[in-house]
Amino acid sequence: MRVAAARGTAFRCYARVDVAFAEGLVGVVGPNGAGKTSLIEMIHFGCAGYSPRTSTESQVVRFGSEVTRVEVDAHLRGGPVTSEVGFRPGEPKRVTVAGAPERSVAALLARFPVLVFTPDRLRLVQGPPALRRAWLDRAVVRLWPALADVPAAYGRALVQRNHLLRRVRARAASADGLDAWDGVLATAGGELLAARERLCSRLVPRLRERLGELGGEPGDVPLALAANAAGPELLEALAASRRRDVDRGSTGRGPHLDDVELSEAGRDIRRYGSQGEQRRMLLGLILAEADLLAEERDELPLLLLDDVTGEFDAHRRALLLDAVARFDQAILTSTDEADLGGRATAVVRVSDGVARAA
Ligand SMILES: Nc1ncnc2c1ncn2[C@@H]1O[C@H](COP(=O)(O)OP(=O)(O)OP(=O)(O)O)[C@@H](O)[C@H]1O
Ligand SMILES: [Mg+2]
Repeated sequence: MRVAAARGTAFRCYARVDVAFAEGLVGVVGPNGAGKTSLIEMIHFGCAGYSPRTSTESQVVRFGSEVTRVEVDAHLRGGPVTSEVGFRPGEPKRVTVAGAPERSVAALLARFPVLVFTPDRLRLVQGPPALRRAWLDRAVVRLWPALADVPAAYGRALVQRNHLLRRVRARAASADGLDAWDGVLATAGGELLAARERLCSRLVPRLRERLGELGGEPGDVPLALAANAAGPELLEALAASRRRDVDRGSTGRGPHLDDVELSEAGRDIRRYGSQGEQRRMLLGLILAEADLLAEERDELPLLLLDDVTGEFDAHRRALLLDAVARFDQAILTSTDEADLGGRATAVVRVSDGVARAA
C-alpha cells in the first residue's frame, strides 16, 4: 500500500492541509513543533481510523474547532481507493471507503495495511502487558481478516463473566449461571490463544532476521508468548478459582493476562535494553509484521516512521534506511534532512502548520 495524497481539516496544528506523496522513501522534514508528527498521525487516522499516538482522541481536533476530517487517497494491491474519517469528540467516527459508509472503524484495520513507528509506541516494548496484548490482537486482525472477531469475542465473554461474578457477589444472581460463561470464555480463549500462537510462531524467524539486519544480536527466540490458561485448561482453572473470582469480581485466569517476552541475545529488552536497543526491537517488530503481511496477504504495508532515526548511530541509521527503502512507500520524519542520508526519493517540507511537497 502507498498513499498518493492526504487532506485534512482542523487536524492538530493544521487548519487545512493537502499534500501529495511520491512513492519510495519520502522524507517529512521541518523544525521542532512544525507539524511532522501531526502529519504522520493524520495519515494513520485517515486510513486506520485511530491515532497511534494517544487514546484521548479529542486531542487531535485543532484548538478552537469542534470537528476534524481526514481523507487519504491510497493505492492498494486491488487499485486506488479513498478513505475518509470524520470525527467530532463524543460522537462515533464517520468512516467512508470509496464513498460507501463503513460499518465499523475496526474494519479499516484489515483493509489498509499501515504500520507505524512513533516514539510514543516505545511503550509497546517498555510498558505494561496490556499494550503488547493489544498489539498482538491488532496484528492478528491485520493479517487474517477472517479472525477479526476472535479477540473481540473473548473480550465480550470476559465482560459478561465479570459482570455476573459481581452480581453473584452481591447475591443478585446464582453461581450456577457461571457454568455457561465459563464454557464460552474457555472456548473463545482457546481460539484467541491459537491465533496469538500462530502469529508469534510466524513472527519469530522474521524478527530474528530483521533484528540482525538492523545490527542486533537477536538470539534464537527474540519473541515468546507468555500464555495464560486457555481452552480446556482454562475451563478447569475457572472452576477451581470460582470462589476467589467471585470475591474479587473479576476473572483471574485467561488470555487477558497473556504477555509477550521480548529479548535480544537472551536478555529481557524491557528491563535491560538500552534506548537504542528498545527502538531497534520496536522497529524489528514492525518490519517482521510487514514481512508477514507481504507473505500472507501479498501486500507490502505502508510504513509511517516518526523520528525513527533518533538515537541510532550513523551505522545503524544506514542499515535502517536500507531496510525501509525496499517498501513501496515509507514516510519518515526528521528535523534534519541529512539524517535521511540522501536516500529520500521525495521530501515534504513542514513549517508552522503548513506542509508542502518540495
Ligand atoms: N489539537 C491541537 N490543535 C492545535 N495545535 C496542536 C494540537 N495538538 C498539538 N498541536 C501543536 O501542533 C504543533 C506541531 O506538533 P508536532 O508534534 O506535529 O510537531 P513536530 O514537527 O513533530 O515536532 P518535533 O520535531 O518536536 O517532534 C505543536 O506546536 C503542538 O503544540
Ligand atoms: Mg514530532
